[in-house]
Amino acid sequence: MIRILFIGDIVGKPGRQIVQNGLPHLIEEFAPNLVIANGENAAGGSGLTPQIAEELFSCGIHVLTGGNHIWKQREIIEYINEEPRVIRPANYPEGAPGNYFYIWEKEGVKVAVLNLLGRVFMEPIDCPFKRGEKEVAQLSLITPNIVVDFHAEATSEKVAMGWFLDGKASAVCGTHTHVQTADERILPGGTAYITDIGMSGPFDSVIGVDKEAVLAKFLTGLPVRFEVAKRDPRLCGVKITIDELTGKAISIERFQYIP
Ligand SMILES: [Fe+2]
Ligand SMILES: [Fe+2]
Repeated sequence: MIRILFIGDIVGKPGRQIVQNGLPHLIEEFAPNLVIANGENAAGGSGLTPQIAEELFSCGIHVLTGGNHIWKQREIIEYINEEPRVIRPANYPEGAPGNYFYIWEKEGVKVAVLNLLGRVFMEPIDCPFKRGEKEVAQLSLITPNIVVDFHAEATSEKVAMGWFLDGKASAVCGTHTHVQTADERILPGGTAYITDIGMSGPFDSVIGVDKEAVLAKFLTGLPVRFEVAKRDPRLCGVKITIDELTGKAISIERFQYIP
């Protein structure tokens, strides 16, 4: 059995601090073999820098997934070509830098982590379903253990991806919306599914952003400067177990760590 801890979107400094403080407790309690985290908002709420990626790896994270904000910090472009543990969505057009999957391996057991990006209410991008199907088929030649981070806005698109990859991937976990959903389950084909694993960041906010600024924008329609909020940091994610011989999920459980 493989135990995987998947941490939701780490938002800015409060997100990084809660990971630093909370992850050791989760590691002690769950003893994960593999720790995955979505890192696309780790740098000031938008993007990821090499320094921050290294900082997160030193906390015990093995692989950082991306999303629509992955390119926001310029330094990432060179770094992502050299650092296989940082991945970006597979369905960016041909020619985008970086890797879109990572193969974790320990004592002969391999787990592939694949990143896909949704396109409903998001910027136009290649089809995540067609691309996802192709990549999952390729990865299954390497290992039956495949975890997909589907970074998408629309609940329907995420649920559809869960069904689409049921029996093909070990887990399909949604990220991006920053609000954890209560729908985790094992689909009939053996795929662990959840629409969104939630945010690791300040909860006294609007999905991580200073709430006064977001309210001003909704109330006036004027452009405002968004800043990462500070208070009430929490760490969200899921604990997944997989039978490594079949790649089928055994369990999925969501958590919210409040210090
Ligand atoms: Fe995010
Ligand atoms: Fe995102």
